[in-house]
Amino acid sequence: MMDPFAAAPRRVTICEVGPRDGLQNEPQAIAVDDKVQFCDLLSAAGVPMLEAGSFVSPAAVPQMADAEQVFARIERFAGCRYLALCPNERGLDRALAAGVEAIGVFTAASDAFARANIRMSIDESLAVIGRVIRRAKEHGLWVRASVSTAFGCPFSGAVPLEAVVRVCARLLDAGADQLSVADTIGVGTPNQVVDIVGALEALVPAGALALHFHDTRGTALANALTGLALGVRTFDSAAGGLGGCPFAPGATGNGATEDLVYALHGMGIETGIDLTKLRTASRFIAAKLGHAPISRAYTALEAAGPCVTVPGAI
Ligand code: COA
Ligand code: ZN
Repeated sequence: MMDPFAAAPRRVTICEVGPRDGLQNEPQAIAVDDKVQFCDLLSAAGVPMLEAGSFVSPAAVPQMADAEQVFARIERFAGCRYLALCPNERGLDRALAAGVEAIGVFTAASDAFARANIRMSIDESLAVIGRVIRRAKEHGLWVRASVSTAFGCPFSGAVPLEAVVRVCARLLDAGADQLSVADTIGVGTPNQVVDIVGALEALVPAGALALHFHDTRGTALANALTGLALGVRTFDSAAGGLGGCPFAPGATGNGATEDLVYALHGMGIETGIDLTKLRTASRFIAAKLGHAPISRAYTALEAAGPCVTVPGAI
């Protein structure tokens, strides 16, 4: 029998997006101290890439308004890359002032979503991103570019594969070091992963492609494992399955980091992440948010026995 994972990498890089994609969707204020401690617990769990916040308009995403303070105070662990999302040059200025070494730029594969999320058409955003990347590179920053709604748009529905490929090609031309192709609203299914990864194969080196899934309809892990089987090595997920998108009606959490780590470790694939410590991070932030993580692996671990708690966590 053919092993469907014969081409899968032996090690995977998880980009933990809980502190940004997760927390940005929480309506209640979260103290800077708690954001910092959440990031530090994630770093301590061995996360190799951490999206710790975004320098976006505070009117657009009030939860990220204190990103300067978060970046000033989080502990930087060796071996972890700390990312800040920047929508425009103003965001880059703030990131540079905060001493950030890696940024994320972002646009969408559908115009309707780009207009809702960043108030620009795709082409307008690509012009802005071109300037942001050029300046970021002058400062020696590492740049990741995210493409929202690659698997479907909440406003315009199906997104043609050619639209995804076109935006990805433009972002690579602009100098992005990595692309994160996102299913912002969690509509994607594994056959779409095959189509999108296949279409990008000739364009994007395997090490430069990341996939970002939301679990709105329960397909995040299936989609990630499909990408893995195709040789993709980087996946975005959020501790506890936190998340959503304030500009994507109905979108729920990111794929949960615990669920992905559990599956990968069971398959003998390394992530460098300690699941027990990750659970501590999820437990900490869940207590602050007042609702339980939706991660299935987290829930099973909780049911199985006690966990190391941290001060301030219930
Ligand atoms: N950081 C802080 N403030 C910013 C900013 C930034 N990066 N970019 C713009 N602003 C401020 C401007 O100074 C201006 O402030 P003022 O009203 O006090 O003068 C205001 O925001 C409007 O600026 P403008 O350039 O007209 O932006 P806009 O209203 O067209 O919004 C974005 C465009 C991109 C800034 C905004 O839509 C945004 O931040 N989107 C991010 C959404 C997001 O994070 N989504 C989740 C990630 S996928
Ligand atoms: Zn997302």
